[in-house]
Formats: sequence, C-alpha cells, structure tokens
Amino acid sequence: MNILFIGDIVGRSGRSAFLENVDCLRKQYQVDMLIVNGENSAHGKGITRKIYQSFLDAGVDVVTLGNHTFSKNDIFQFIESAGAMVRPANMEPLHVGQPVKIIEKNGLRIGVFNLLGEVFMDQATESPFSTMERLLEDYPCDIHIVDFHGEATSEKIAFMHYFKDRVEMIVGTHTHVQTADEMVMDGCAYISDVGMCGAYRSVIGRDIQETLTKILTKEKTRFTVAEGPGMLSGVVVEIDEIAKRAVSIQRIQIRPEQ
Ligand code: FE2
Repeated sequence: MNILFIGDIVGRSGRSAFLENVDCLRKQYQVDMLIVNGENSAHGKGITRKIYQSFLDAGVDVVTLGNHTFSKNDIFQFIESAGAMVRPANMEPLHVGQPVKIIEKNGLRIGVFNLLGEVFMDQATESPFSTMERLLEDYPCDIHIVDFHGEATSEKIAFMHYFKDRVEMIVGTHTHVQTADEMVMDGCAYISDVGMCGAYRSVIGRDIQETLTKILTKEKTRFTVAEGPGMLSGVVVEIDEIAKRAVSIQRIQIRPEQ
C-alpha cells in the first residue's frame, strides 16, 4: 500500500500547486491513500469549508492541521461534520473536532493522528509523547500515521525513536522546509519535515518584502501570503500490508520552472 503525504499547503499558490499535480502523482506512485496538511491553506492561516471541500473533491482521504487549526472562525461552523479532518490532539479547544481519523482499507485499520510539538511552540496543552501514549491505547489500529506538527527537528527525531516500534509512519510538518533525513527505522517511515506547497519565491510561503521588513525594522507586518508559481512537497511511503510495517519512504519535490 502506498501512502502519499503532501506537506503544508500555503494559500492560493500552494493550493494550485497541489491541485495541478495531484492526479499525476496519484498515478505515478499508485497511491492508495492521500493525506494533506491543510492548516495554512486559507490565506496562510487556517482552513475554510470551501477549501476543505476542494481537497475532498481532489481525492484527499485525510486533512491534518496544526497550530493554525482555529485561526479562521469558519472552522467552528463545519469541523464537527468534517469527517476527513484531524486536529492536533494536544491543543485547545480539546472538545472540538476529532484527534484521530481511522480509515478501513484493504482490511486494515489505518489511524491518522495529529500532534503539536512543545519545543519553540507554546500551544500544546500536553506533551505529544504522553498524548500519543494515550491515543495508542484508546484507538487500536493496524497502521499508525502521525503528522507531528513541530518546529524542532530534535523533538521530532526523539519522538520517532520513542514510538518507532509502535507506529509505522511519522511525518514532520510546520517548518515548510523539506528535510533530507527521510528513513525507515525498524519498520517506521520518518522525515523530520515534509516541506510545503506554496509560492516558490517566498519566505516559507510568506511575502519576501514583508518578512524582510519585519526582520530588519522589527515593525509589525501582516505576513501576507506570497503569490506566484508554487512548489509542491511530499513523501510517498510504502507499507507492507502483511507485516504491517513501512518498507520505504521517498521524498517528492516539484518546483516551478524559473
Ligand atoms: Fe504550523
């Protein structure tokens, strides 16, 4: 079974890059399951009902989120009915939305989990480690996929070593920069960060000039989302359905012509 995970889709450029390439990727990698991180898909912060629906229409099985899950008020109008959406399990408000999405495929129960990191981030209500321990107990599955939404590579690598024997796929999100450390460690596919779908000429998806203004003058800026041709980032993980473990992970990055 091949699982395609597409990294943080940022604004219009990211949505276009994803929608323009998804059919081709699905065929090329014979994808059985498609997961996207959509927490930056609406103007860089949050997700709307319309965008969520466009992902479903494109064949997405699960949409994961992150620290911007509740940045748009629209989310509260549809999150309870958004069956394909997973929100971080260790972030307020805890009673809204679902912390796990379980999909039955080829006779397997596949659980998709979403957690927030604690290092250099301040929104986690509980350690992602203790939260994951609880989730593993509460939601028994054959295949466990974790979107670890965190800033620090060290925290994500430590998480992988702690859970690698009980989890089959851990994909880091949030930094928007794809790391080159993809590996399969004892049957667990891992990458510290899968990277983003967003404007290629940008600072992690944001407008370059505004970001520079903020850095150089300390002025408050709106961090407008950058426009222009988008890049796409993702990974494909192959799962051995008999062994119920990961056997390979491959990075994908598509950049616009310059
Ligand atoms: Fe994020």
